[in-house]
Amino acid sequence: MKYGHFDDNAREYVITRPDTPLPWINYLGCESFFGLISNTAGGYSFFKDARLRRLTRYRYNNAPYDMGGRYIYLRDNADGKFWSPSWMPVRSALDEYTCRHGMGYTIIRSVSRQIEAETRYFVPMGENLEIWELTLTNKREQAADISVFSAVEFCLWDAWDDSTNFQRNFSTGQVELVDEVIYHKTEYRERRDHFAYFACSEKLTGFDTQREDFLGAYRGWDSPAVVEAGESSNSVAHGWQPIGSQHVKVQLKAGESKKIIFILGYHENRKDAKFDPPGSQTINKKTVKLIIDKYLQPKIVEAAFIALRNYWTELLGKLRVNTPDMHTNRMVNIWNAYQCMITFNMSRSASYFESGIGRGMGYRDSNQDLLGFVHMIPERARERILDLAATQLKNGGAYHQYQPLTKRGNNDVGSGFNDDPAWLVLAVAAYLKETGDWTILDMPVQYENEIGSETPLYEHLQCSLQYTLDRLGPNDLPLIGRADWNDCLNLNCFSDTPGQSFQTTTNKDGKVAESVFIAGLFVLAAKEMVEIAKHRHDADETKKMQNAALRMEETVWKSGWDGEWFRRAYDDFGHVLGSKENKEGQIFIEPQGICIWAGLGVEDGRAQKALDSVAKYLATPHGIVLQQPAFSKYYLHLGEISSYPPGYKENAGIFCHTNPWIMIAETKIGRGDQAFDYYTRINPSKREEISDLHKCEPYVYPQMIAGKDAPTHGEAKNSWLSGTAAMNYVAITQAILGIQPQYDGLAINPVIPSGWQGFEVVRQFRGVRYEVSVRRKGPGNTVLLVMGGEPVSGTVIPIPARNVKTLKVTAFIG
Ligand code: BGC
Ligand code: NOJ
Repeated sequence: MKYGHFDDNAREYVITRPDTPLPWINYLGCESFFGLISNTAGGYSFFKDARLRRLTRYRYNNAPYDMGGRYIYLRDNADGKFWSPSWMPVRSALDEYTCRHGMGYTIIRSVSRQIEAETRYFVPMGENLEIWELTLTNKREQAADISVFSAVEFCLWDAWDDSTNFQRNFSTGQVELVDEVIYHKTEYRERRDHFAYFACSEKLTGFDTQREDFLGAYRGWDSPAVVEAGESSNSVAHGWQPIGSQHVKVQLKAGESKKIIFILGYHENRKDAKFDPPGSQTINKKTVKLIIDKYLQPKIVEAAFIALRNYWTELLGKLRVNTPDMHTNRMVNIWNAYQCMITFNMSRSASYFESGIGRGMGYRDSNQDLLGFVHMIPERARERILDLAATQLKNGGAYHQYQPLTKRGNNDVGSGFNDDPAWLVLAVAAYLKETGDWTILDMPVQYENEIGSETPLYEHLQCSLQYTLDRLGPNDLPLIGRADWNDCLNLNCFSDTPGQSFQTTTNKDGKVAESVFIAGLFVLAAKEMVEIAKHRHDADETKKMQNAALRMEETVWKSGWDGEWFRRAYDDFGHVLGSKENKEGQIFIEPQGICIWAGLGVEDGRAQKALDSVAKYLATPHGIVLQQPAFSKYYLHLGEISSYPPGYKENAGIFCHTNPWIMIAETKIGRGDQAFDYYTRINPSKREEISDLHKCEPYVYPQMIAGKDAPTHGEAKNSWLSGTAAMNYVAITQAILGIQPQYDGLAINPVIPSGWQGFEVVRQFRGVRYEVSVRRKGPGNTVLLVMGGEPVSGTVIPIPARNVKTLKVTAFIG
């Protein structure tokens, strides 16, 4: 069953009933101020860091789902009946309801008792605030007397502390109410120089800032006492649970509309100008007042909304495709690109499955996500690369995560995930291919953010690959460390105590367990390094990396090939994993994908063999599972992977991130039908028709779909924040459609389904607009490029002369 539909022209997903199988969410904010917002206005807001600068509270595992949000209550003062125009939290039936999730905004519209309420939520570019623009329309034939109550629950900034340290926090909460603006200023009196504010464009009839005064003791958000009574209690929070609620009375004539603007914002003052008058305890509002006054004006709000739309038009305009498949077009042109940008902003920190208080930005994740967004925001990708590289350890290793606010490596998690370093090379390669900006390699970059430790980025790359070469195991394969891409394959952990971290509790010396996946990744990265070194005329490095890649390939064939597929790893006892010899975990998806992507076995048929094994053992109608047979019990020497019940997550779930590696691999051996078939199986838009089973949003990829061993096979989880976004984007745009940025130009190398007669692409690349038309002439994948009636040799369109701004290219394939 469907719960809505795509509106591709508007670039929106339109949800038509509020009771979706799970909250279906969207993100507000593109720069520093962010919010998560569900289709029923649930979610929360933060500045830069969902843990350390959280503005509002949210309860993840609550019943009912999705508690805490940007709530508006409407009360009909004629008879005292009240409702939530976003359905939650009151949940009384609405006569009409739609939620439009768009690019960086959400519009929830409903009609109840002939009162139409439409709220547009978004964050203006360049500002640290969110706007809720409510338009109320009286559709009755008589006048209406309506009370509007707003409500947010403030978080006392550090979301972790806020949900644990009650002995302190119930005494620290502070607010100010000045000029009808609610200021939340907990801890402002001491070390914080930031505060939150909640303002409204209308004259307030009343307000509340103390939660229990607003709700009433023992009541929930579904029935606040104040809303029921129709009268705020004008409470001022001293400790306990500060909230922001405004009460506005609206008289609407028949047919009349009225706009009310609410602003929820974050503001910092200079440390030496925190208070006004100086020496007092009152917030200095000089700078924030200007911002508030500005955004309470409807004209400014409208202009800001248009600017946001334009921003997205520009980003999404970097690559547009028109293929015979509607699901491909929609995902590539809109939602997959959008999701890539969300992963740029959030990494894996804040979604409805990631609490925002656990993980910061993953090193592997952020490097790898870059492949999906670099063409949209090359300057910010550059900054991201330099930030990531500055956390690198001197031995070439990497902090597994870093905190977005401080940009420092996270000591709690530490390093030792031995695939991490190589991803930096792939990210930089993607950046160079996209931009041709070779100067980035000369940028001085610190190690571990230590002043004085700078070396050029180029050396960081060398160091990254050396890290692998310095850590080879008994079979000359790379040592796995805490884990490789599969965070849950913990071969050095042997954890037998509940509560221990599977990933960071290491009690083996790590000198035996090896990863075939890292070997494949190394070959891929080393080959990029060869190209980069060549470009810099660094003959030594070129040669070194050519040899290293070659040696690693030989090692893989010697110890990593099982006869029908690539093996996965060797454990701490030196036993193989991902082999016919194993009873469980005989074949894993990751090494098949990465080794073939790196080119192994493409020429001699072994790649095809491996991919046929994938099709035979791992593929399901819902996507390709991670391994088979699933682990039926917990194996001390394998770690977290076997902690999951069979079919979920890394234990034989359809871990969507890995599927595009197989799509890419299939294109390497020229099988466009197979690649596209896999693409379609996990395409969220295609899966929209099975929303009852899939459950997650039909407009973005989930991290995982339950595998064939799971009782809920086909059910998705962990939507939004996953490397799946970037990898699928790369697989469809670069491998299948074949639009490939290269060091020396844009290449066109499609490997498309045999039934497709062609497709069109518009690609902005290094300041030139490429209009590419692909035409099928025969059944194969050979490409003939034609420009201005002349054939071009090879598959790379040479970079045109400086004054050329548009290039029309036809690619004949056959
Ligand atoms: C999850 C992984 C994730 C890891 C992050 C594990 O519990 O299963 O998917 O990468 O935690 O630390
Ligand atoms: C999610 C993590 O963010 C990612 O880095 C990892 O590769 C996968 N899980 C697989 O474990």
